[in-house]
Amino acid sequence: MGKYIIGNIVHAVQVNKLEILTNHLIYVNGNIIERCSPFSEAEFKPQSHEEVIYLTQTQFLFPGFVDTHIHAPQYPNTGIFGESTLLDWLQKYTFPTEGRFKDISNAKDVYSKLIKRQLNNGTTTSSYYGTIHVPATIELAKLCLEQNMRGRIGRVCMEKFCPEFLNDGSIESDIQFIEEMERLDPSGAMVKPIITPRFAPSCEFSTLKGLGELAEKKKLSIQTHVSENLNEIKWVKELFKTKSYCDVYDEAGLLKKDTILAHAIHLTDDELNLIKERDCGVSHCPDSNAALASGIAPVKKYLRHKLKVGLGTDVSAGCTVSVLKNARLALLMSRLLTQRESESLEIDELNKDKSSSLTVDEALSMATLGGAQVMSMDKEIGNFEIGKKLDAQIVDIASDNSEIDIFDMSLPSNEIDRVRYYLNKWVYIGDDRNTVCVFVDGKKVVSKI
Ligand code: GUN
Ligand code: FE
Repeated sequence: MGKYIIGNIVHAVQVNKLEILTNHLIYVNGNIIERCSPFSEAEFKPQSHEEVIYLTQTQFLFPGFVDTHIHAPQYPNTGIFGESTLLDWLQKYTFPTEGRFKDISNAKDVYSKLIKRQLNNGTTTSSYYGTIHVPATIELAKLCLEQNMRGRIGRVCMEKFCPEFLNDGSIESDIQFIEEMERLDPSGAMVKPIITPRFAPSCEFSTLKGLGELAEKKKLSIQTHVSENLNEIKWVKELFKTKSYCDVYDEAGLLKKDTILAHAIHLTDDELNLIKERDCGVSHCPDSNAALASGIAPVKKYLRHKLKVGLGTDVSAGCTVSVLKNARLALLMSRLLTQRESESLEIDELNKDKSSSLTVDEALSMATLGGAQVMSMDKEIGNFEIGKKLDAQIVDIASDNSEIDIFDMSLPSNEIDRVRYYLNKWVYIGDDRNTVCVFVDGKKVVSKI
């Protein structure tokens, strides 16, 4: 069935540029965007069976968020990390919780609540880590299909530096998982498996290599963690006797166009060049990086080097499923980095091109188009280009209980400036209450109005 959405529309057209289209019309046929053009009341003649949604003055249509890195089984642990940092956090909090997903009833309960919470926050695509368990991770895929979350779903492969109950580094388990996934969604349009070695220390080199070969044979993407914590980096270099963390993955054949590297905080320039050369994507996880005191990733530098960068909530090292809050943290932490660097670099108004500070356009673009690029899904989703699928949210800056107060005295009179004013308020003050409607694959899946 055809659907019109009429009003103000905002989307990223480049990784550093949002386009604001005032008084526009989007026409969606089934799940595909067929038209995006200025709206003319006089020429508008919808047919009786077509749905028409008029946005109000305080609303705008925005692409659904893409969460490029989230651990579904860790959802019960959000906010619970105490004083830990990465390596002791894994042992103390994370592994015991992940072990509980041997029981499929935990998977059903946790995963259904997680997906509901994500959709409510405007996330329409996620790259998930499950656990080592094939049945629980298949359950995650089934719930994504049922609840309408687009996603990549990874069975986590790990066999070292973990309790015995989380040890399954067998490629046979991965093959079994992939085959079950192919039966669930043969086209892979909504859910698709993704090869997921937890991180280098979790696997023997031969296993990493085997996973690289499997990804190649099955034409699947890969996700893993890299350069998150200084002790972790030192440990990896000792374990594998390599020059750098990225070299381990490169030698195992894991650095490819469809590879999502989470964190990538402390990269050397050689690693940055290697990631660029291999065309891998980076998942920037600012909430997690702050919570576990891992560091501040120099994202602006990555964007200048034209790396593909998206945002990841990294639940539960990150405390929130909200990609919007991660966009805000990306902005705030980038400003702290500029402040730190300005002591040595002398950054001032005349030297802005050296600044590490992100713009609102860059942060919201990473949350959508950048994320789609990182997941190699930018031909399908990420913005409202004709031919893409409609994954979108209606944002209302003045929704019920909104945290945002709008004052007429400071509201710009020009329409484009007004929408930009709303965008700034949303990214710095907004939350799930401002996301009043969510569409996935053309279907309305959340409606609060
Ligand atoms: N490195 C290896 N496993 C994990 C994980 O579960 N979360 C984070 N943030 N880093 C990791
Ligand atoms: Fe992670």
